[in-house]
Amino acid sequence: METNNLIRTEAYVNGQWTKAASGKTFDVINPATGEVIAAVPDMNREDVRQAINAADAAWLAYRDLTAKERAALLRNWFNLIMEHKEELARIMTIESGKVMAESLGEVNYGASFIEWFAEEAKRAYGDVIPAHTKDRRLVVIKQSVGVAAAITPWNFPLAMITRKVGPALAAGSPVIVKVPSETPLTGLAISYLAEKAGFPPGVYNTVTSTDSSEVGKELCENPKVRKLSFTGSTPVGKILMSQCASTLKKLSLELGGNAPFIVFDDADLDAAVKGALVSKFRHNGQTCVCVNRILVQDSVYDAFVEKFTQAVQGLKTGNVLDPEVQVGPLIHDRAVKKVKEHIQDAVTKGAKITTGGESMEGLFFQPTVVAGATPEMLIAREEVFGPVAPIFRFSTEEEAIQMANDTEYGLASYFYSRDVNRCWRVAEALEYGMVGINEGLISTELAPFGGIKESGFGREGSKYGMDYFMEIKYMCFGGVS
Ligand code: SIN
Repeated sequence: METNNLIRTEAYVNGQWTKAASGKTFDVINPATGEVIAAVPDMNREDVRQAINAADAAWLAYRDLTAKERAALLRNWFNLIMEHKEELARIMTIESGKVMAESLGEVNYGASFIEWFAEEAKRAYGDVIPAHTKDRRLVVIKQSVGVAAAITPWNFPLAMITRKVGPALAAGSPVIVKVPSETPLTGLAISYLAEKAGFPPGVYNTVTSTDSSEVGKELCENPKVRKLSFTGSTPVGKILMSQCASTLKKLSLELGGNAPFIVFDDADLDAAVKGALVSKFRHNGQTCVCVNRILVQDSVYDAFVEKFTQAVQGLKTGNVLDPEVQVGPLIHDRAVKKVKEHIQDAVTKGAKITTGGESMEGLFFQPTVVAGATPEMLIAREEVFGPVAPIFRFSTEEEAIQMANDTEYGLASYFYSRDVNRCWRVAEALEYGMVGINEGLISTELAPFGGIKESGFGREGSKYGMDYFMEIKYMCFGGVS
């Protein structure tokens, strides 16, 4: 297969490469250089309706494939993605600014969901329930929910698609993916590989648009769509949820976070520095599970700040295609502005910058450490989504837990301690969907990913992931003699 084929500049609907009916397109920009990479269709609500109709028409035949047949299609797709790992990583890097080493990691991570759900397809077991009368038999089966829509974010141009469509396709649901306008090319490239993998027309659809609000409305309000899965901000999640109310659509929302990273005085400080570094600076701080607040106990505060500052100074910024580079640009100028505002607000309220603090060329910003952060600062309440690490101080375990939970978000949290009793106590007390204990990188296809409170609901990946794309049906067989 030609590498060039992976750069697709049309949407993929009903097994066809398609333009917007209006003929409109929009540009995809490389955030590291400002260059235009390609132009893709700027679809409207009616275009998206066509994709929904195609998915709906494909549903019953696809649902009726055996689980083993669906698993084989997913396995083909997984193999093709792994065969084209380098090209996919390169496309991802040039459209998202994610450094090459991380893009390669994301292709593996994203593909792992397809492999996992190819295996899980065959294990969507039901139940036989002991009946309450002699002449009845009670049986529970799980069936595909129907057409599923996925609205995915720019920060993981591949993995957030596969984490949603993997379980949907395994369960027997056709999908419509609305890829982000910042990074549509990776999503289109894997659509091409899905076509080559042999998914029947209408089963896999990808739409591109700058009009997220109209496209979102169609996906939420169209009764043929039975399930919506969204990863993005909490404010947008709330809008989608209210729009889905009209059809009572099944919904999964993976929304914003404000992850605490607690360092207790009994922690292995070097391990904590390493964990905080990898968790804070993954994709330049632009993930929902990135550390947002580092909370450090009094007696180790100064030592941690010193070691962490040194580690941050060692991060290599530069050409995103260089496999050694660890920090790339931010996605757009709004992100740079937000980072600046957070730093300015913290400094005005008494914080001290121990390294970084300045913007660089284009959308690049220096990796920054802010010591002396306090709960009154903007940075304590809002998701930074950038390369800024504020360090807060606490005295007792109770205070750390109170500070960590003092947010409307509840996605990921982390802490470091060598006391096994404390590890259990704190892990149970943190009001979050995910807790990293002496670990800063917790994402894997094997474990349930998702949040509580205003970080949303639903779980992706793991043995739980397919349930969100299936309905439970109870069947009562009567008159059995
Ligand atoms: C996200 O930022 O939404 C996903 C992060 C992950 O899967 O680790």
